Amino acid sequence: IIKLSSLRVVTLVLCVPVLCSYVFMYGVLKFSWAVRSLRVDFWKPDSPDLVTIGMNVDLHVPAAQLDMVFTILQQSGMEVKVMFENLQEAVEAQMDNERATKAHDYTKYNNWATINDWVVSISSANADLISRQEIGNTYEGRPMHLLTIGKKTGSAKPAVFMDCGFHAREWITHAFCQWFINEAVSTYGSDPEMTNLLDRMDFFVLPVFNIDGYEYTWTNDRMWRKTRSRNSGSSCIGTDPNRNFDAGWCTVGASSNPCSETYCGSSIESEIESKNLANFIRSNKSIIKAYLTVHSYSQLLLFPYSYKYDLAADHSELLSVSQGAIAALSSLYGTRYTSGPGATTIYLAAGGSDDWAYDLGVKYSYTFELRDEGRYGFLLPESQIKPTCEETMLAVKYIASHVLNNL
Ligand code: ARG
Ligand code: ZN
Repeated sequence: IIKLSSLRVVTLVLCVPVLCSYVFMYGVLKFSWAVRSLRVDFWKPDSPDLVTIGMNVDLHVPAAQLDMVFTILQQSGMEVKVMFENLQEAVEAQMDNERATKAHDYTKYNNWATINDWVVSISSANADLISRQEIGNTYEGRPMHLLTIGKKTGSAKPAVFMDCGFHAREWITHAFCQWFINEAVSTYGSDPEMTNLLDRMDFFVLPVFNIDGYEYTWTNDRMWRKTRSRNSGSSCIGTDPNRNFDAGWCTVGASSNPCSETYCGSSIESEIESKNLANFIRSNKSIIKAYLTVHSYSQLLLFPYSYKYDLAADHSELLSVSQGAIAALSSLYGTRYTSGPGATTIYLAAGGSDDWAYDLGVKYSYTFELRDEGRYGFLLPESQIKPTCEETMLAVKYIASHVLNNL
């Protein structure tokens, strides 16, 4: 079903707690120099540029480079733990291979074709609560469907905007947007909180932002992250869409090298997907009160800023809402989240859609990093879709209710 571009090599994910001393700093520098020339796929953080002292790093190493990478790590005195002996096996084990049909299922990972059919059918089956529009096409020409969920009142309502699937390999996020839409329409009228939310506000949900990339993770390379646009003067494909927005664009934690996983693009909103999203939010700026962008993994709830260390003007409110949201989330299964500004909680990284939306005037701007903490990483088993989505619902409802109560 899945063809990895790495051609079924035996792969490894290594976990490296980097200790704080000059010796290790030397190791980090030597290591990050070495990985640029090797084909090392960074899972956490997203690229070698973002590695700092004291950080745990998750890497995916092609078998052919394994001995070399192992040697470099050991010579640098870094502690190494193998998480997947064979990543190809884990990719295959992630999904139910017995799946006979391509029927849409909320507890499975659905491909783009299945999601696209589902988008059409769930909106027509719930015409009283859902409307559908296209905000443009992707680079490869696929339509970006945006669903508006809320009781139709005939007048403009305040809204929460939420997107999933910025990064192609973060499959649990696509699953969450689908779950959210279904949960919203099926609990409307029975769950008082959801009923109140949908009566008084709208949710704009973009279930798959980076459709071309997502499709590519199903057909060619499960670990693809970026968009699929061509870069002039380079054979490397794609831009990191979360480095492509007008928020300190390409200054820190982003790369101007098209081959990097954190390539910021040739200009602000160079990616048509970024432009389509930004145009929609700009034209609905007066009603959009919250912007939620869903990523994985690490179990974090981040808010501005990420492109600078300055605290946001609304820092204390953003922090207390994030703390309430993660407390609600953990009340269900005890899943532990950390919340805080991106810059100090993970790393400085410019060009993110969260910072851009905040500076545009959308106060409640949050980035979710869903399950897990690295045990499975991007290969979160399908059996965790349901609990992950259930707990995340609680956090999203918490934020939306706060927005509604503080208009
Ligand atoms: N892992 C995400 C990324 O690097 C975190 C985004 C946090 N926000 C930001 N503006 N950097 O894209
Ligand atoms: Zn991401």
